[in-house]
Amino acid sequence: MALVNVEARASELLEAQAHIWNQTFNFINSASLKCAIQLGIPDIIHNHGQPMTLSKLLAALPINPTKASCIYRLMRILVHSDFFVQQKVHENEQEVEYSLTPASRLLLKDNPLSASPFLLAMLDPILVTPWHFVSTWFQNDDPTPFHTATGKTLWDQAGHEPILNDFFNEGMASDARLVANVLTTECKEVFEGLNTLVDVGGGTGTMAKVIAEAFPQLKCTVFDLPHVVSNLQGSNNLNFLGGDMFEAIPHADAILLKWILHDWSDEDSVKLLKRCKEAISSKDKGGKLIIIDMMIENKKDDKSIETQLFFDMLVMILLPGRERTEEEWKKLFLDAGFSDYKITPILGLRSLIEVYP
Ligand SMILES: C[S@@+](CC[C@H](N)C(=O)[O-])C[C@H]1O[C@@H](n2cnc3c(N)ncnc32)[C@H](O)[C@@H]1O
Repeated sequence: MALVNVEARASELLEAQAHIWNQTFNFINSASLKCAIQLGIPDIIHNHGQPMTLSKLLAALPINPTKASCIYRLMRILVHSDFFVQQKVHENEQEVEYSLTPASRLLLKDNPLSASPFLLAMLDPILVTPWHFVSTWFQNDDPTPFHTATGKTLWDQAGHEPILNDFFNEGMASDARLVANVLTTECKEVFEGLNTLVDVGGGTGTMAKVIAEAFPQLKCTVFDLPHVVSNLQGSNNLNFLGGDMFEAIPHADAILLKWILHDWSDEDSVKLLKRCKEAISSKDKGGKLIIIDMMIENKKDDKSIETQLFFDMLVMILLPGRERTEEEWKKLFLDAGFSDYKITPILGLRSLIEVYP
């Protein structure tokens, strides 16, 4: 009996140790993926047009030859994390070949919906450094760990550091392309009857450009901070305007808020929602907000819950924001004086939320 206990205790200890190691080294998955993208591995395999042997991959890679043997190890962890498929070229030989998976196809440079710019932005040292300041931030009165690390808000810092401004906007734009694609094909009715739309915090206008092209009768305005939109050119039914959304928002039938409210506290979100309510048409003239943001649900599978928790931490560390449950969203809308809302869970982990005055 005593022996069974000792064995059980030992296996529990070893499991606990493995769990700690896995959590400790979680970053190795993202760092390995970043490296593969920087070396262009998904593009090289894709351009090869068929599964690529390790030796051909090595010949095509821009690496120092003394590091060649390490590529197999980099690929092995990325096969494990489902970014590549590895198979033997011939049953009895050692040589392996690699092909892409749906996830690595979405990282290709030529893919118009490529997620690489978002990944490279989120893993840039400027956005990773604040994660080293979280416990310090818990003990001081700074608004975010980003502020503790840099002395500024993310938006102020982006206004001072063109590199951050560029990679952040490009990262956002890559996500906006994907969402705009789904929205303008699967949810056309959202824009029916509208004559004017303002994309508040619309970044460099990727989302608004797709909407303006899909609905030529709709006049679209991208409204963002001056350092984001200052050099951008509009077109027939698209224009750019710089300003502070907490001060005043240009009038329109509808306002689009994609990935905006999750950046802000409840208090600031209500303030912003009130500004939006003042800026839109009445309900009978089609006035509404079109929000794209996450709705936290516990019914989802474990992986989706983890993704939601990651995003909630992300907007806590970089920004004074939060991800919200339906109840929390509803409270914001009612507190800002809106009467009703409709949720369409069409964007994977995010929802389309239409909010009516
Ligand atoms: C998370 S990004 C979302 C960008 C875009 N909506 C998208 O999803 O691709 C938030 C945007 O809000 C803008 N922003 C932050 N504070 C703002 C303010 N006070 N007035 C206007 N825009 C602001 C930022 O410059 C940034 O482009």
